[in-house]
Amino acid sequence: MSLKVCITGVSSGLGHGLAKVYLERGALVYGCSRREPPELIAQGLRYASVDLANTKAGVDAFAQLIQPASYFDIVILNAAKLGKIRDMADTPLDDLRETMEVNVWANKWLLDRLFSESRRIEQVVAISSGASQSGSRGWNGYSISKAALNMLIKLYAGERPQTHFTALAPGLVDTAMQEYLTSLPEDLRYPPLNILKAAKGTDQMPDSESCARRLIEAFPRLLKLQSGVYADIRKL
Ligand SMILES: NC(=O)c1ccc[n+]([C@@H]2O[C@H](COP(=O)([O-])OP(=O)(O)OC[C@H]3O[C@@H](n4cnc5c(N)ncnc54)[C@H](OP(=O)(O)O)[C@@H]3O)[C@@H](O)[C@H]2O)c1
Repeated sequence: MSLKVCITGVSSGLGHGLAKVYLERGALVYGCSRREPPELIAQGLRYASVDLANTKAGVDAFAQLIQPASYFDIVILNAAKLGKIRDMADTPLDDLRETMEVNVWANKWLLDRLFSESRRIEQVVAISSGASQSGSRGWNGYSISKAALNMLIKLYAGERPQTHFTALAPGLVDTAMQEYLTSLPEDLRYPPLNILKAAKGTDQMPDSESCARRLIEAFPRLLKLQSGVYADIRKL
């Protein structure tokens, strides 16, 4: 029987890479994002356009998408918003609220919909970030949201002992997020920007498909960790 997979944020970057690799391997893949990925749909992706910042419309669209699936082998909560690199003091509250909505609260209602109708889920991997630990200046709402995501995953792990949960930092991936970060001018306030610029185009920052292959290899190994923990692929 083919693997049944659900991935959020499939229109670009890591989520696109994961969906592409799973589809190539014959998995049944359900995915959502705001922008449609026609090439993945042509490959067989079951797709719905869902804006994770819009809970009211999003819940219904997502529920309809997953309705035919009675179980998932793996759910990958990948979609996220980075926002601008700037000091907390310069970041509008509305921007922080939207980051929390997409990166944290949407994952709460996504999980609630996924577990509804007695749906069985073997494994949940929430894509976290080293930013959840580092709290580097300028990473404002993104860092807060990823730290909160780690805790959300731990809390769900306590409630759902039949499902294995991990919050996983994927390492650096050459995606639109990194395109934005590495195109910023050097700024002494935000030293990680120089590290990212140096990593771009090297093995330290693989493209999304290479990273997806590495993650897919690693997912079974996550099952050996305690459910609910934060892990970093670079340290596994
Ligand atoms: N790239 C890195 O180096 C890196 C490092 C550490 C962690 N991560 C994490 O890896 C994951 C993937 O990031 P990425 O680099 O691949 O980013 P990306 O290329 O910007 O892709 C983000 C994905 O999330 C979706 N998304 C964003 N806002 C959404 C919304 N409101 N509603 C629905 N979907 C939304 C986007 O789709 P639409 O725009 O079509 O909606 C897109 O498919 C994220 O969780 C990120 O935090 C990335």
